[in-house]
Amino acid sequence: MTDRYAVIGNPISHSKSPLIHARFARETGQDIEYGALLGPLDGFAAVVRSFRAAGGLGLNVTVPFKLAACELADFRSERVRLAGAANALKFDLQGIHAENFDGIGLVNDIEHNLGLALRGKRILLVGAGGAARGVLLPFLEREPAELVIVNRTLRTAEQLAEMVAAYGKVSSAGYSDIPGERFDLVVNASSASLSGDALPLPQNVFSRSGLAYEMAYGKGLTPFLRLAADAGTGRLADGAGMLVEQAAESFFWWRGVRPATAELVRELSLPLQAG
Ligand code: ATR
Repeated sequence: MTDRYAVIGNPISHSKSPLIHARFARETGQDIEYGALLGPLDGFAAVVRSFRAAGGLGLNVTVPFKLAACELADFRSERVRLAGAANALKFDLQGIHAENFDGIGLVNDIEHNLGLALRGKRILLVGAGGAARGVLLPFLEREPAELVIVNRTLRTAEQLAEMVAAYGKVSSAGYSDIPGERFDLVVNASSASLSGDALPLPQNVFSRSGLAYEMAYGKGLTPFLRLAADAGTGRLADGAGMLVEQAAESFFWWRGVRPATAELVRELSLPLQAG
């Protein structure tokens, strides 16, 4: 019988995960089926349980169920515990295992596809919600010179910085008092782009040799990326590569086989340079 996996979210029809995993399965010769499940907002756990009862082996989890997936699991990785959120589940005889590959997916995209090694670099992380939480630990594991978390609500950024203080040099700031200029990497993990809002980031955080990364995928030149482009940032990226790389980590976790990603990342990445 073909092994079954799926992505669960709400909404879900826009998800590229079935396409990505079908491609991975074809290219690695794995006999799997990967579908898309629309989770009812008040019935996530029931859908997961019935998928598992019907023989499903694993799920990717997307908005708005990442916190619920963490709660539902019997076993959580350190990344999941720190993020308070999971984006992949695996089912076996022991129970439900939870992982969070969002951060490692982002780091792999930045380092391998975009060619920016993070060790010794200055990183500005914009936002302090769930998306920011998920990437903190993988960033700090790369030993950047400094990681600054900037957020509209300063207290939330302070709490995140305190939570991971033991893992590296990390600090928090409001938009009007960001320490230093010209970060090597500025990542937008806030949800401002989803609502089309501009962020009050000063131009001097961007640099000509730096990279501006919008974690949201498929939104084109968002207000954040436009700001970065206007400030002369050398390179712009959106979350397409992160999506493919986290999918590859999930695939490897489930199947023990690592799919190639570079060509698919190129295909899914929209041209973003302001022109
Ligand atoms: P997600 O899970 O996508 O991270 P979230 O947990 O609701 O969503 O967090 C949203 C983040 O985007 C927060 O950091 C939020 O800032 P506040 O903590 O001050 O609310 C940030 N955000 C959302 N809209 C914003 C805007 N218009 N300007 C600046 N920051 C914004």
